[in-house]
Amino acid sequence: STTSPIPGYAHDDPALAASPVTLDDLAKLQAGVLFGPDDQAALKIAGEVLGGQIEQILDVWYGFVGSHPHLLAYFSTPAGEPIGEYLARVRARFGRWIIDTCTRPYDQRWLAYQHEIALRHTREKKNHTDRADSVPDIPLRYLIAFIYPITATIRPFLAADGHDEDQVEAMFQAWFKAVTLQIALWSQPYAGPAW
Ligand code: HEM
Repeated sequence: STTSPIPGYAHDDPALAASPVTLDDLAKLQAGVLFGPDDQAALKIAGEVLGGQIEQILDVWYGFVGSHPHLLAYFSTPAGEPIGEYLARVRARFGRWIIDTCTRPYDQRWLAYQHEIALRHTREKKNHTDRADSVPDIPLRYLIAFIYPITATIRPFLAADGHDEDQVEAMFQAWFKAVTLQIALWSQPYAGPAW
C-alpha cells in the first residue's frame, strides 16, 4: 500500500541474513499460540480493515510511547532528548509491519526479517538503520509487556468497518496470537542458547 520505498525497510532485501529460527521451530511456536489457518484467514480480513487506518493506529501507539518517559527514552538521546527524525522513520516501518503481520506469508523470508527486527531492538543493531544517536538497546521485558497495549488498542480499529461481533473477535484473537508469536521470535537474540 506504499508508493515510495520506506527507508530502512528490508523485508525483501535478498542480502538479509537467514534467521537462526527454522521453519520447524516456527511451526511449533505457531502451535504453541494456537495459531492456525483460521487465524491466517482472519488476519487477511484484518489487513483490509486496518489498512485504511494505519496513521490513526500509529497515533495511538506513539501517544502511548510518548506519554511514558521510560519508553520514550528509547527514541531519545542518552541525555533524554527525543529524536524526531528517528521517531518518524521508525513510524513508517511500524506502519508497514501492521500490514505485513496481516498479509505476509510466515515463511523463510518473513522469519529472516523477524530476526532483523529483533536485532534492531538489541545492542547488535538498534540505531544502525537510521544512524540514530540513541540509547543502545531495549530491555526484553518491555517488548513482552508491550504485547498488551499493542493488542488491546487494536480492537476498536478492527471493529471500525462494521464486521459482526464474531468476525471482530476472530480478527482480534488472530492479531493477539500473531503479536505474541512475533515477540516470542524476537526474544531469540536476547535469550541466546536459552531460547
Ligand atoms: C522498531 C514493533 C516493542 C522501541 C520497531 C519496528 C517495529 C516494532 C515493527 C520497526 C522494525 C523495522 O525496522 O522494520 C514492536 C512491537 C513491540 C515493540 C510489535 C512489542 C509488542 C518496543 C518497545 C520499545 C520499542 C517496548 C521501547 C520504547 C523501538 C525502537 C525501534 C523499534 C527504538 C527502532 C529500532 C532501530 O533503531 O532500528 N518496533 N516494538 N519497541 N522499536 Fe519496537
